[in-house]
Order: sequence, then structure tokens, then C-alpha cells
Amino acid sequence: MKDTQASSTAFTVQQGMIYAGRYSQEKDAIPSNLVSLSEQIMSALPEGKKRIDQLKNPLRRGLLKLMEFTLLPGISLHYVLRKMKIEQLAHQAVDDGVEQIVVLGAGFDMLATQLAIAHSHLTCIEIDHPATSIEKRKAIDNCELGQENCELIAEDLSKHKLEDVLRNSPNFKSQAKTLYICEGVLMYLLEKDVCNILTVIKELSPMGCQFVFTALEPLKSEKNDAGLLLQMHLRSMSEGLNWMLSSDDIEEFLNKNNFLLDGTSNDAMICKELLPSVKPRHLHNGEYVVSAHGSASRA
Ligand SMILES: C[S@@+](CC[C@H](N)C(=O)[O-])C[C@H]1O[C@@H](n2cnc3c(N)ncnc32)[C@H](O)[C@@H]1O
Repeated sequence: MKDTQASSTAFTVQQGMIYAGRYSQEKDAIPSNLVSLSEQIMSALPEGKKRIDQLKNPLRRGLLKLMEFTLLPGISLHYVLRKMKIEQLAHQAVDDGVEQIVVLGAGFDMLATQLAIAHSHLTCIEIDHPATSIEKRKAIDNCELGQENCELIAEDLSKHKLEDVLRNSPNFKSQAKTLYICEGVLMYLLEKDVCNILTVIKELSPMGCQFVFTALEPLKSEKNDAGLLLQMHLRSMSEGLNWMLSSDDIEEFLNKNNFLLDGTSNDAMICKELLPSVKPRHLHNGEYVVSAHGSASRA
């Protein structure tokens, strides 16, 4: 990503959700709060407003739909499905006693804010690159959605160590059972950096550490729809893919890094579970949601 510009892919995720929730065949089944919160935050940012305006224009919308069909069919609905699954896992974690949620590379996702509003005892912390985080802070302030128990940390994690960033936060609690979320980010990192995150979060939260993240099936796998066109598109946006791992191998990878797998969910599984009435024409194949625990006792 560019150092001075908010993440283009973070805007694309929100635009995809708004498309799915407002214009797709599945729109009536998609939870309206997910879409309206996204619209609220996007409307408060010039680039976000531009993305919403593109969707309002039937011609631009048609072009975006064609682009989706050509590059990654079903990706708009995928953004909704992955967010719904992560939200479900986060609520379960809170019910199971998690006291703190840390979102890495949060983009314009509003889950931490929603959880902070719903659970006043919860400490929520988001970290994102300053170029994105500062924009998001402005939007959250404009929408009057700022929460005392939700801190936005603007740090470049390629320049500052995650452990230092969190230990320097006045709000981070090292003795709290913690859920870490990293959605749509790890595939841009090198494997050694993914392993480092696993080591660091386990050390940061010795009382219990759950990690919910998304991972990408290898591009050549039958379980991934991505073609050459998409890879070229991502490279042109300076957000090339690095870490990919088959869902068949994720348990072994996690075990090697001292985590235990709770489960993985692809779009077909999430759709069946959370949107059972929806029978989409295209379901995305490639990115899947993983939940794992970093200690023998559940967080
Ligand atoms: C594809 S977006 C995903 C956003 C969000 N998690 C979602 O799924 O809606 C990737 C996010 O990682 C953040 N990111 C990329 N490089 C980063 C870095 N070096 N330090 C902190 N955040 C970074 C970007 O700013 C962006 O918000």
C-alpha cells in the first residue's frame, strides 16, 4: 500500500459490502446494520463517498459488476459472509469470557466499535497504518461513533513491532483474555511475519489468546477462483499477495506455531449457516475464516 493514501483495498471491501447489501440479488437477506454502518462511515470520507456514488450510477455499477465477474465472481457477497462469520465468532468469544479485542489492519471495518457499544466492559483496540487509521478516526468522529472503550492506534506495523505498539497503549491489558482479529491482511505478509504475529500475540496475552483470521488458498489450488487477471490487478495496486496456505494444511501450520485449530469456514459453509435462505449464483472460493486458540485453556 502507498504510505500517504488510505488503503484502496480497505475501501474496496466496504464498497463490495454496500453493493451486496443494496444492489445484489441477495440484498434482502443481508443484515441491514452491517451495510448501514458501512455506508455511514464511507459517506464521511471523500473516497468513501466517491465509491458510494459509483454504486448509485447504474452504468458504473454495471462496470463494477462486470469487473467482479471477470476477476473474482462472488467477492462482494464474500466480504459480507466473512464479516458475518467473524462477528459471530467475536460474540461467542465475548460470551466465553474474552475481555479484550484487538483488530490488526482493521481498515474501515466497524466490528470493534459495534462490540465496544454492545459491551461496555470490553476493551477494544484497532491498529492500522496511519494513512488509513487517521482517515477512519476523522470519519468516526464526524459520525459521533467514537467510544471510550475503543482505541484506534495509527501505526505502521512494518516499522514498529506489534508487541511495542500494544505495550505502549494505555488501554491494552496484558492480563486480559484477548481475541485478536486479522481479516483480509495476512495474505499480504511473508510467512515469517505471520508466524511472528502468532508468537507475539500468544506472549502478549498469556491468560488466553484466541486468533480469528482469514487465509487464502494457494492461487493454483482448485479451492481458489483467482486467476492471472486478479493477480495483475493486485500488483498494479501495490498490494501483491504473499502468504497462502491450503485449508487442509492450516491445522499443522497452527500446531507448529503453538496454536490449536477450532475450525475453518469457507463461503459455502458460512452461507449455509448464516444466510440459509440465500442461494447465490456465485460463491467465492479462495479466502476462508480460521479460528484458533493459543493456549491449552480456551480464552
Ligand atoms: C485489505 S484491507 C482489510 C481491512 C479490514 N480488515 C477489512 O477486512 O475490512 C488491509 C488493511 O491492512 C492495513 N495495513 C496494510 N499494511 C499495514 C501496515 N504496515 N501497518 C498497519 N496496517 C497495515 C491497511 O491499511 C488496510 O486497512
